[in-house]
Amino acid sequence: MGIPTRREACWRGQLAKMTNPTRKIVLLPGDGIGPEIVRVAVRVLKDCAAEFGHQFDLAEFPFGGCAIESTGMPLPAETLVACKATDAILLGAVGGPKWDALPIGKRPESGLLALRKELGLYINLRPIELRPALRSLSPLTADRAAGVHIEIIRELAGDIYFGEHRIEADPSGERATDEAVYTTGEVERVAKYAFGRAEARSGRLASIDKANVLSTSQLWRRTVTRLAANHPRVKLEHLYVDNAAMQLVLAPAQFDVILTSNMFGDILSDLGAALAGSIGLIPSMSCGPGSSLYEPIHGSAPSLAGKDVASPVGTILSASMMLRESFGLKQEADWIESAVDRLFSQGIRTADIAGPRTAPIGCSAFGERLHAQMMETVARHAQDV
Ligand code: IPM
Ligand code: MG
Repeated sequence: MGIPTRREACWRGQLAKMTNPTRKIVLLPGDGIGPEIVRVAVRVLKDCAAEFGHQFDLAEFPFGGCAIESTGMPLPAETLVACKATDAILLGAVGGPKWDALPIGKRPESGLLALRKELGLYINLRPIELRPALRSLSPLTADRAAGVHIEIIRELAGDIYFGEHRIEADPSGERATDEAVYTTGEVERVAKYAFGRAEARSGRLASIDKANVLSTSQLWRRTVTRLAANHPRVKLEHLYVDNAAMQLVLAPAQFDVILTSNMFGDILSDLGAALAGSIGLIPSMSCGPGSSLYEPIHGSAPSLAGKDVASPVGTILSASMMLRESFGLKQEADWIESAVDRLFSQGIRTADIAGPRTAPIGCSAFGERLHAQMMETVARHAQDV
């Protein structure tokens, strides 16, 4: 396992200081539980910088509902400029009841969609992993739960999310329209990424659509099928989304890499998170031509906000995903993830995964335990050399 000794970390640190650039990270804590969970993940990043000698330049910007309060807009120009100029972005969550009555284009969530669009984030990767110590938390039977190791690749910049949304008068009251659009190019670019990801894993790729009803899905299926000719090592199959939802619950082991559209990916990734024990545990990466964005897949959980009870794990794992995927810092990411797994195997639980017989710990307490666990591994391995 790639846990560093203190001497290695120190040596690597010196080397890193000489050779590594300062890495700029924009923090967008957002609303609800966002600030609490991002705080814990930032501590993890700082621990990583201190132990391995990296330079992370962290700068926080307003985004979402809190930005509406301070600037009148969910994605202020200053925040967007910072996001475009950074190496990576760590986001908490946006939204809350305070802004629920606003029209769609003015809500905190529209800031998130605008950020995805402006940064060209067309790939969204959501790893659905049932962590070994949490097997019993899955609603699946034990034999089915053993097969949950899935990567969902969700197209993130097109589909019904970005078509025209319109509400007009109708004799019966109102008439609402949401337009779903995909172009060949939009399907191709995300599908190419998915084929690559499948080649790097088991070679199995499931493309999920609704080609028996939707034109966008017919284009999707045709395009993915055509690209498959360039990837002879990938075993491609197509499933309709309704069947895929059922298969995910009945036989998840058949899936390895899933490729799907924006809307279906939103829904199936929440379903996948439930299979993995809690939506609080799942990180994500969104990428395109510029800076990548990392965020937990859960929402702002307004009912938990300010109570220090939310799980920071999805955000911590998003930070470690950033280290691995954006900065190539695999050993650092392993260090964080293995410490999280050791806490779980010691029975340390936040409320979302505690069950009736375990006393849960809070968000910041989880951060403290994780910090201690990470430091302990470095110290213990240092003694062994
Ligand atoms: C997600 C969220 C967002 C989405 C919301 C907050 C706009 O549910 O990232 O899955 O639908 O994409
Ligand atoms: Mg969602």
